[in-house]
Amino acid sequence: VPQRKVAILGAAGGIGQPLSLLMKLNPLVSSLSLFDIANTPGVAADVGHINTRSEVAGYMGDEELAKALKGADLVIIPAGVPRKPGMTRDDLFNINAGIVKNLCIAIAEHCPHALINMISNPVNSTVPIAAEIFKKAGVYDEKKLFGVTTLDVVRAKTFYAGKANVPVAEVNVPVIGGHAGITILPLFSQATPQANLSDDVLTALTKRTQDGGTEVVEAKAGKGSATLSMAYAGALFADACLKGLNGVPDVVECSYVQSTITELPFFASKVRLGKNGTEEVLDLGPLSDFEKQGLEAVKPELKSSIEKGVKFMHSGA
Ligand code: APR
Repeated sequence: VPQRKVAILGAAGGIGQPLSLLMKLNPLVSSLSLFDIANTPGVAADVGHINTRSEVAGYMGDEELAKALKGADLVIIPAGVPRKPGMTRDDLFNINAGIVKNLCIAIAEHCPHALINMISNPVNSTVPIAAEIFKKAGVYDEKKLFGVTTLDVVRAKTFYAGKANVPVAEVNVPVIGGHAGITILPLFSQATPQANLSDDVLTALTKRTQDGGTEVVEAKAGKGSATLSMAYAGALFADACLKGLNGVPDVVECSYVQSTITELPFFASKVRLGKNGTEEVLDLGPLSDFEKQGLEAVKPELKSSIEKGVKFMHSGA
């Protein structure tokens, strides 16, 4: 099994800690690098006691970021702030965009060939921001930049299994578009195993998948957003990326990537992963009329989120 270094930026956070734990359990990882602006010595000591393959190191503060990144094959980014009461979406955007920008400048310098798994929200905009930074640094490789949308797939599978009355472990549902609200478009017409669900049920399943994040925010009643399920989804996607790097054939996952199959520059699609990251962006496949309508609603919304990211980069912020 090859040596693989995985760096997690924001490793001490609500997502970062369970994600660090799950990546420590992954036998494909040989070196686990945990970076945050606070608390990483503790997280690294704690996770480091687990008797699995990877060596664990904690790095804290900007002055240790270079060491955290050096030699990384895969960088997972859940750094940022979750939305707090009184904060507008624009406040959140500006803070997280600034955090992602600085982290990506460091990635471009210290591990320009690593695969990037972006979790920091709003993913629809933070991925375009990362792309702009890598372009500016002359290291952009569209095959290596991914917005993690796996939680949308995980949710779609769970909700579908409940309604279709099929074993959840056997379910597959592609989810395309983006990673917020109506930009999330689950393709239940392509779900396996197929079940004969009414239009009303399919509409409700689509809406629940799109509102999954809000469902968790409301249930947590002011104490945060999805962390555990997001960490699970992040670990699942990272594992798929590592398998691809290791040459396991036909690893396909949905992810928000540079798009060649729609007119939008970024679009979540089924992606075949390989030794260099994205090997192929697969066709969307046949859509139902309901999904075609959904796709028309995705486009303007996603376009404006992408433009927001690009504009942030050109505003000199
Ligand atoms: N570099 C590294 N880590 C940072 C930085 C930075 N510049 N700024 C903040 N962090 C860290 C925080 O110290 C914290 O440990 O990011 C972590 C974020 O953790 P939480 O505040 O618990 O937030 P979480 O719920 O994990 O969400 C993080 O992921 O899904 C998104 O919308 C979510 O954008 C948010 C992010």
